[in-house]
Amino acid sequence: MNSLINQATLILKRGGLIAMPTETVYGLGADAKNPDALRKIFQAKQRPTDHPLIVHLADISQLSEWVRAISPSAQRLAEAFWPGPLTLILPKAAQVSDLVTGCQQTVGVRIPRHPIAQALLRSFGSGIAAPSANRFGRISPTTAAAVYEELGDTVDLILDGGICVVGVESTIVDVSGKYPVILRPGMITSTQIEAVIHQTLVTQKRNVPRVSGSLEAHYAPATYTQLLSTEEFSHFLETLTEGDLPVALMIRTPLTLKNKKITCIAMSADPELYAHDLYQTLRALDNREFKRIVIEDVPQSERWQAIRDRLLKASFRPL
Ligand code: TXA
Ligand code: MG
Repeated sequence: MNSLINQATLILKRGGLIAMPTETVYGLGADAKNPDALRKIFQAKQRPTDHPLIVHLADISQLSEWVRAISPSAQRLAEAFWPGPLTLILPKAAQVSDLVTGCQQTVGVRIPRHPIAQALLRSFGSGIAAPSANRFGRISPTTAAAVYEELGDTVDLILDGGICVVGVESTIVDVSGKYPVILRPGMITSTQIEAVIHQTLVTQKRNVPRVSGSLEAHYAPATYTQLLSTEEFSHFLETLTEGDLPVALMIRTPLTLKNKKITCIAMSADPELYAHDLYQTLRALDNREFKRIVIEDVPQSERWQAIRDRLLKASFRPL
């Protein structure tokens, strides 16, 4: 892996694109100080340029180069959860590129804990801007193969770090204002965050385009995808006709169905394991010829919040 890290470092220094594993999802990385390299990210993802990028760093000592100020609660969150699946939105330092911030006065920063991301960040020695390594609006990749499926040869090098352990994107907390706000739920929950900052969090409910992950139709498979409550799910099975087949079911309640045109995927009852498998399962099902993917809803409790958020987005269809 060492020579691959060196190669990836060289590519970044020359303004190229790499894909790196993180514990959440794979990121499409470029030198966060090189505008030409940053532009390549937007081209490869076909992402609008006003959507800001997260800057990934190796450790807290690099923070002052990217952020102007860090509040006591932001400092506490950084100490508690970094390296890990948390992104903090902070007031940006003057020199941070508009391409990173989407012309805002804030910058998103994360210190990932995946050993390969850590090794690369240390070797590169500066910030790597990295959105999830998927085309805009599609499911985030959690394996190297999924990155290739999404972006093909537009990436100069894909570092293979196996399947991402967390499986869904980081929790984003905006700590740039008076009150901390969760912009995107992740596997680090509000309660965990509140316990560290001793403050009640505000959850942003409305759609704010600057957080592309907050657009309703995001993380969506191409196959028609439905999220049904356990009752709706039973009703769907009872009224299923030949015309609905083949269908894929992602279930939590064990079922035995003897129809070859019904593919049943038993998802875990544990949210950590469910999150770990979620995108890989959706992607695999989306690559087969199903008429639809039907997902049994998950509990509304906090530990499931990030998963439920992604399921709602995966199944959202504008009227
Ligand atoms: O887990 C993750 O966060 C992954 C890995 C690769 O680190 N990255 C990721 O990046 O999910 P992306 O670009 O797919 O999603 C980051 C979200 C975007 O919706 C972006 O709009 C938002 O973070 N964001 C970044 N900087 C921001 C800022 N300054 N203010 C508000 N939102 C910001
Ligand atoms: Mg993304």
